[in-house]
Amino acid sequence: MRFVPLFLLLAPLALAAPAQNAPTRTEKRASSVLPYNVANPGPTPSFVPPADAIILPLAQVVILVGATTGSLTSTLTDALNNLLKGTNGVLGSITSGTPLCGLFQSCPPSNPPPPPTLPTCLNSTYTEQQINSLFSYGGANTTVYLCPGAILSLSAPIQFTAPNQTLTTRLTVLQALSSDNYATIRTVNPNQACAIYTVDPGRDYAKVSQIKVDGNRPALGYLARGLALMEMGGTNTGQVVDKVIAFEPRAWSTLHIIEGNNLSCEGAVVTNSQFGPAGSDTSCTPNDQFNPNGPCPGGLWADGISLACRNAYVARNTIIDATDGQIVIFQSPGSTVESNTIITRNRQALGGINSVDYYPFGGGFTGTRVSSNQFLTQGPAMMKIGIAIGPLAWSDVNNTRTFDGEWSGNTFSSSGSGYFGYGMAMAGHQNGLAMNNKFQNAAFGGIVTGSCHAGLPDVGPLYYNQYTTPGAQLTGSWVAGGAFDFTICRGPGPVTKPNVNTQ
Ligand SMILES: *[C@@H]1O[C@H](CO)[C@@H](O)[C@H](O)[C@H]1NC(C)=O
Ligand SMILES: *[C@@H]1O[C@H](CO)[C@@H](O)[C@H](O)[C@H]1NC(C)=O
Ligand SMILES: *[C@@H]1O[C@H](CO)[C@@H](O)[C@H](O)[C@H]1NC(C)=O
Ligand SMILES: *[C@@H]1O[C@H](CO)[C@@H](O)[C@H](O)[C@H]1NC(C)=O
Ligand SMILES: *[C@@H]1O[C@H](CO)[C@@H](O)[C@H](O)[C@H]1NC(C)=O
Repeated sequence: MRFVPLFLLLAPLALAAPAQNAPTRTEKRASSVLPYNVANPGPTPSFVPPADAIILPLAQVVILVGATTGSLTSTLTDALNNLLKGTNGVLGSITSGTPLCGLFQSCPPSNPPPPPTLPTCLNSTYTEQQINSLFSYGGANTTVYLCPGAILSLSAPIQFTAPNQTLTTRLTVLQALSSDNYATIRTVNPNQACAIYTVDPGRDYAKVSQIKVDGNRPALGYLARGLALMEMGGTNTGQVVDKVIAFEPRAWSTLHIIEGNNLSCEGAVVTNSQFGPAGSDTSCTPNDQFNPNGPCPGGLWADGISLACRNAYVARNTIIDATDGQIVIFQSPGSTVESNTIITRNRQALGGINSVDYYPFGGGFTGTRVSSNQFLTQGPAMMKIGIAIGPLAWSDVNNTRTFDGEWSGNTFSSSGSGYFGYGMAMAGHQNGLAMNNKFQNAAFGGIVTGSCHAGLPDVGPLYYNQYTTPGAQLTGSWVAGGAFDFTICRGPGPVTKPNVNTQ
């Protein structure tokens, strides 16, 4: 029986009820229903949304108002206002961040004790409970600030609650120059994989910037059927991930931009960020990692970015050592994926950029453009394929076709002991456009394993399956590779084509 790797053929979906505006946690709910009928779900997790967030009593978080931008109409500031009216009404001094008395203590008429200074950011003593409470009470437009260099331990995901909410580190202009100053949020609960969850309806323009997100897998291990470390997008428009460093997810992906109810995710932006390392490659030479009975079976790999959102923009990110697809594009019609750097160093990657899935948008890469990305194999680990286009390039699924899209102007290079199996392969894909993809000192190698099917071409830069790619427009040194499939069956092995350069 042929082995069919299905790990990337699935993208889960949140089905959620409409949002309500109450700060109590009734404002959303999602089911674990998958969006399509999948015969063999494999190890890809079904989408089980996190439990409702714990919201602390207002009195416990109101003192943290300086760590947010609670607007004057928000629950949080109203509550603070009311609280203060009942004491001595020093709201002005609070909102300007100056010392206060009268919040939880009265101000004596003379000789006052030194008043506490309200924190302007959340330091390492706080958790997701304060963050979630500030988002919940603060409502739309709330920014929650973490302190520079703080490390916050999360026992549950951070959940956004309303439009235009932002999680970031409060940095001076100078501090912002170094990511060393970014606060870290780290999952510490053995039963939790997800650190940030902004998927449910009513979270338009959620933004995460200038923080580090640590999935903590080396300490906590793999979590079967877990969510991605960051679950964003969903039934929302314009969510943003900028200048984020996210690594070691415990389950299948680092950042998942999920398609949302009725495929309604729109215009997510992922820029200037770094993802990986992610997942385990569990490979050994000359083992076949698709053989579950082999000495080093695979399956515990993870994506860097898993993109399933229309008209998204993914640019200037660096993905290092993500072991499944470093970027997986679930069609995401109308999206641009450009100027990213995809690096394989110490963990074998199955794919650099994958455009191989049929679901959830039914195979259409219409308007999706993958250009000016740089693929670097620095060694010793192998990148099995730089860009895979079409289901047959990745698997042996020959009864569906993906279609449309453009993959142009990308470059592929190797250094040190690094190498690719293949540069780009197109198979099972109609009307694809691929021009001006260049190889500069690229090395190719690896061996055929027991999982490979007959007809696999030799390692090398550009192959298409001429029987399954009607309408392809290809410029450059593309080679008709025959009726091949499942290019990632190759295992690590010697470099047989060093220093390949093409126009
Ligand atoms: C964290 O901030 C609180 C004030 O919110 C302060 O009392 C505490 O000392 C700080 N802890 C650390 C480790 O900085
Ligand atoms: C959020 O900010 C925008 C302007 O940036 C404003 O139009 C909107 O009314 C604000 N929403 C709330 C709930 O304050
Ligand atoms: C979110 O921000 C946008 C743009 O500033 C604004 O138009 C919109 O009203 C805001 N949404 C809410 C609920 O405040
Ligand atoms: C999806 O769209 C259909 C038709 O517009 C609508 O009836 C249905 O309620 C929507 N489903 C969800 C989960 O929003
Ligand atoms: C896939 O199907 C096509 C016919 O649509 C056939 O020509 C080809 O041999 C099949 N297998 C592969 C690996 O291309």
